[in-house]
Amino acid sequence: MPDKAFIPSAYTNTIEKGSFTWSAPSNIALVKYWGKKGKQLPANPSISLTLNNCKTITTLGFEKKENSGSFSFELLFEGQLKESFRPKIEKFFERIEEYLPFLKDYHFTIDTQNTFPHSSGIASSASGMAALAVNLMSLEAALNPLMTEDEFNQKASFLARLGSGSACRSVSGNVVIWGDHDETAHSSNLYGFAFEGFHEVFKTYQDTILLVDKGEKQVSSTLGHDLMHGHPFAQQRFAQAHDNLSLMKEALAKGDLEAFIKITESEALTLHAMMMTSMPYFILMKPNTLEIINKIWSFREQTGVPVCFTLDAGANVHVLYPENVSNKVLDFIKNELVGYCQNSQYICDEIGTGAVRIN
Ligand code: PMV
Repeated sequence: MPDKAFIPSAYTNTIEKGSFTWSAPSNIALVKYWGKKGKQLPANPSISLTLNNCKTITTLGFEKKENSGSFSFELLFEGQLKESFRPKIEKFFERIEEYLPFLKDYHFTIDTQNTFPHSSGIASSASGMAALAVNLMSLEAALNPLMTEDEFNQKASFLARLGSGSACRSVSGNVVIWGDHDETAHSSNLYGFAFEGFHEVFKTYQDTILLVDKGEKQVSSTLGHDLMHGHPFAQQRFAQAHDNLSLMKEALAKGDLEAFIKITESEALTLHAMMMTSMPYFILMKPNTLEIINKIWSFREQTGVPVCFTLDAGANVHVLYPENVSNKVLDFIKNELVGYCQNSQYICDEIGTGAVRIN
């Protein structure tokens, strides 16, 4: 499907003013997206688990204005005006205007808050851009009432991607695939779509996020993706991601936790290896990240409990495990891992379903 397919034909309805509220969750990639090309297109396909508790809640107020010469919006973060978000939203609006031609016809108030602590090192761009995209789609659906739910979700994911790549995996579905992949029918670089064929065990999968370093990101994801241009191992890495996605789909379908663990942990370390071997090079893990990884490995070996880790582009550790071992893993976290977290902080999350309309 070409991106032009997302340009709407003339709207049948008009609407003067109103508001919508949506929540959209964060997601954690199992096979990582790292490297991009063109208009926010991924250099390789990825797959993620949608989270449930770490989310952004955004209310979009809109009112028709006289003059449709430029974008007009006001940004609030937790009820306070937040001018520093303006350039990012302005850029997002420029990128999506072609697909939402009504954008300059309204004045918007974008009021947003996160359920996770600010500067926890948890990226809010995925949940934030997804929450804004679904709100804008609600307005488009009001202008075009014939839109189906599938069309809504697909275009919302398409728009969210133009805000922040991984945001396209935060719109709908428990497990989401994004990026062209020969072995996945309907896969697309333009949007994410729900992978339905996963085993029962993943329906209630748990993710406890250990906050090792809550500081500002050392490397922005924009810079990080750029470092894959001319990276000596880039082509090999992109090919590996295709293979790992095939293997991961099989592990998810069969409920093969051993394979799931192997691919997930290898992907996390590969993401960091790419950063360590780029020019300039970065180490985003902290000593405590490594301590935690080693503890998880010994615990798994000693107990046989199928717990594993994954990492984002930072020092925090996502601890992934099936729900039926929650008590054991939470005891282990409290007894052995909390000491490695900044201010002993961690967040309990689990697999979720995607964006939800609240109002
Ligand atoms: O969506 P971005 O541009 O912030 O990139 C996110 C990249 C990783 O989180 C490191 C991996 C991924 O697939 O989510």
